[in-house]
Amino acid sequence: MKIGVAADHGGFDLKNTIKLFLQEEGYEVKDFGAFQLDTGDDYPDFVIPLAKAVVAKEVDRGIAICGSGVGASVAANKIAGIRAALINDHFSAHQGVEDDDMNLICLGGRVIAFAAAEELVMAFLNAKYIGAERHERRLQKVKELEIKNQ
Ligand code: RB5
Repeated sequence: MKIGVAADHGGFDLKNTIKLFLQEEGYEVKDFGAFQLDTGDDYPDFVIPLAKAVVAKEVDRGIAICGSGVGASVAANKIAGIRAALINDHFSAHQGVEDDDMNLICLGGRVIAFAAAEELVMAFLNAKYIGAERHERRLQKVKELEIKNQ
Protein backbone atom coordinates (compact mmCIF):
# COMPACT_ATOMS: atom_id res chain seq x y z
CA MET A 1 0.00 0.00 0.00
CA LYS A 2 1.35 3.41 -0.99
CA ILE A 3 0.46 6.22 1.38
CA GLY A 4 0.61 9.95 0.69
CA VAL A 5 1.28 12.40 3.50
CA ALA A 6 1.05 16.19 3.56
CA ALA A 7 1.16 18.89 6.21
CA ASP A 8 1.55 22.60 6.74
CA HIS A 9 3.63 24.03 9.58
CA GLY A 10 0.94 23.11 12.11
CA GLY A 11 1.28 19.45 11.18
CA PHE A 12 4.94 19.40 10.20
CA ASP A 13 6.31 17.46 13.20
CA LEU A 14 3.45 14.97 13.25
CA LYS A 15 3.79 14.34 9.49
CA ASN A 16 7.47 13.52 9.88
CA THR A 17 6.72 11.22 12.79
CA ILE A 18 3.92 9.44 10.91
CA LYS A 19 6.07 9.15 7.80
CA LEU A 20 8.89 7.41 9.71
CA PHE A 21 6.41 5.22 11.54
CA LEU A 22 4.80 4.08 8.29
CA GLN A 23 8.15 3.38 6.66
CA GLU A 24 9.15 1.27 9.66
CA GLU A 25 5.84 -0.58 9.27
CA GLY A 26 6.79 -1.38 5.66
CA TYR A 27 4.58 1.11 3.81
CA GLU A 28 5.80 3.07 0.81
CA VAL A 29 5.29 6.75 1.62
CA LYS A 30 5.05 9.67 -0.80
CA ASP A 31 5.60 12.98 0.92
CA PHE A 32 3.81 16.01 -0.56
CA GLY A 33 5.50 18.46 1.83
CA ALA A 34 6.01 20.69 3.57
CA PHE A 35 9.69 19.77 3.46
CA GLN A 36 10.81 22.47 5.84
CA LEU A 37 9.18 24.23 8.74
CA ASP A 38 7.83 27.57 7.50
CA THR A 39 5.31 29.22 9.79
CA GLY A 40 4.02 31.24 6.84
CA ASP A 41 3.04 28.29 4.65
CA ASP A 42 -0.56 27.42 3.71
CA TYR A 43 -2.16 23.98 4.05
CA PRO A 44 -3.90 23.97 0.61
CA ASP A 45 -0.50 24.08 -1.08
CA PHE A 46 0.30 20.61 0.30
CA VAL A 47 -3.11 19.06 0.87
CA ILE A 48 -4.52 19.69 -2.61
CA PRO A 49 -1.66 17.93 -4.46
CA LEU A 50 -2.05 15.01 -2.05
CA ALA A 51 -5.81 14.90 -2.59
CA LYS A 52 -5.36 14.93 -6.37
CA ALA A 53 -2.86 12.08 -6.10
CA VAL A 54 -5.36 10.02 -4.10
CA VAL A 55 -8.05 10.57 -6.74
CA ALA A 56 -5.56 9.76 -9.53
CA LYS A 57 -4.64 6.58 -7.60
CA GLU A 58 -0.97 7.60 -7.51
CA VAL A 59 -1.26 6.75 -3.81
CA ASP A 60 -3.77 4.40 -2.22
CA ARG A 61 -4.73 6.61 0.72
CA GLY A 62 -3.83 10.01 2.11
CA ILE A 63 -2.95 11.51 5.46
CA ALA A 64 -3.27 15.30 5.69
CA ILE A 65 -2.23 17.22 8.77
CA CYS A 66 -2.53 20.84 9.80
CA GLY A 67 -2.71 22.39 13.25
CA SER A 68 -6.27 21.36 13.98
CA GLY A 69 -6.95 19.10 11.00
CA VAL A 70 -9.88 21.33 10.07
CA GLY A 71 -8.25 23.28 7.27
CA ALA A 72 -6.81 20.11 5.77
CA SER A 73 -10.27 18.54 5.78
CA VAL A 74 -11.95 21.58 4.26
CA ALA A 75 -9.36 21.79 1.49
CA ALA A 76 -9.19 18.07 0.69
CA ASN A 77 -12.95 17.74 0.35
CA LYS A 78 -12.97 20.35 -2.44
CA ILE A 79 -11.43 17.73 -4.73
CA ALA A 80 -14.04 15.52 -6.40
CA GLY A 81 -13.53 11.92 -5.40
CA ILE A 82 -12.02 12.76 -2.04
CA ARG A 83 -13.79 11.56 1.07
CA ALA A 84 -11.82 13.17 3.87
CA ALA A 85 -12.57 13.63 7.53
CA LEU A 86 -10.91 15.04 10.60
CA ILE A 87 -10.49 12.07 12.92
CA ASN A 88 -9.80 12.13 16.65
CA ASP A 89 -11.22 8.78 17.74
CA HIS A 90 -10.52 5.15 16.93
CA PHE A 91 -14.09 4.20 15.97
CA SER A 92 -14.35 6.88 13.29
CA ALA A 93 -10.86 6.06 11.97
CA HIS A 94 -12.04 2.64 10.78
CA GLN A 95 -15.79 3.13 10.46
CA GLY A 96 -15.20 6.09 8.15
CA VAL A 97 -13.57 3.67 5.73
CA GLU A 98 -15.94 0.75 6.31
CA ASP A 99 -19.15 2.72 5.74
CA ASP A 100 -18.12 5.89 3.91
CA ASP A 101 -15.09 4.77 1.92
CA MET A 102 -12.99 7.54 3.49
CA ASN A 103 -9.82 7.76 1.43
CA LEU A 104 -8.03 10.58 3.25
CA ILE A 105 -7.67 11.02 6.99
CA CYS A 106 -7.04 14.46 8.50
CA LEU A 107 -5.29 14.93 11.81
CA GLY A 108 -4.53 17.90 14.03
CA GLY A 109 -0.84 18.21 14.77
CA ARG A 110 -1.58 20.57 17.65
CA VAL A 111 -4.37 18.38 18.99
CA ILE A 112 -3.26 14.79 19.08
CA ALA A 113 -0.22 13.07 20.57
CA PHE A 114 2.12 11.07 18.34
CA ALA A 115 1.27 7.61 19.66
CA ALA A 116 -2.47 8.24 19.51
CA ALA A 117 -2.13 9.54 15.94
CA GLU A 118 -0.23 6.39 14.94
CA GLU A 119 -3.06 4.24 16.29
CA LEU A 120 -5.65 6.22 14.36
CA VAL A 121 -3.59 5.93 11.20
CA MET A 122 -3.29 2.17 11.59
CA ALA A 123 -7.03 1.83 12.19
CA PHE A 124 -7.61 3.88 9.02
CA LEU A 125 -5.15 1.88 6.90
CA ASN A 126 -6.30 -1.54 8.10
CA ALA A 127 -9.96 -0.79 7.46
CA LYS A 128 -11.75 -1.81 4.27
CA TYR A 129 -14.87 -0.40 2.67
CA ILE A 130 -17.73 -2.84 3.20
CA GLY A 131 -19.73 -1.64 0.20
CA ALA A 132 -23.17 -2.75 1.38
CA GLU A 133 -26.14 -1.55 -0.65
CA ARG A 134 -26.91 1.18 1.87
CA HIS A 135 -23.30 2.44 1.75
CA GLU A 136 -23.31 2.51 -2.04
CA ARG A 137 -26.69 4.28 -2.09
CA ARG A 138 -25.43 7.02 0.23
CA LEU A 139 -22.16 7.48 -1.60
CA GLN A 140 -24.00 7.64 -4.91
CA LYS A 141 -25.91 10.65 -3.54
CA VAL A 142 -22.61 12.30 -2.64
CA LYS A 143 -21.18 11.54 -6.09
CA GLU A 144 -24.26 13.09 -7.75
CA LEU A 145 -23.62 16.28 -5.81
CA GLU A 146 -20.03 16.35 -6.96
CA ILE A 147 -21.13 16.04 -10.60
CA LYS A 148 -23.82 18.76 -10.24
CA ASN A 149 -21.37 21.17 -8.59
CA GLN A 150 -18.56 20.80 -11.13
C1 RB5 B 1 -2.00 27.30 10.88
O1 RB5 B 1 -1.60 28.19 11.86
C2 RB5 B 1 -3.32 26.67 11.20
O2 RB5 B 1 -4.33 27.57 11.02
C3 RB5 B 1 -3.51 25.45 10.34
O3 RB5 B 1 -2.45 24.57 10.52
C4 RB5 B 1 -4.74 24.63 10.61
O4 RB5 B 1 -4.92 24.39 11.96
C5 RB5 B 1 -5.97 25.06 9.97
O5 RB5 B 1 -7.01 24.42 10.11
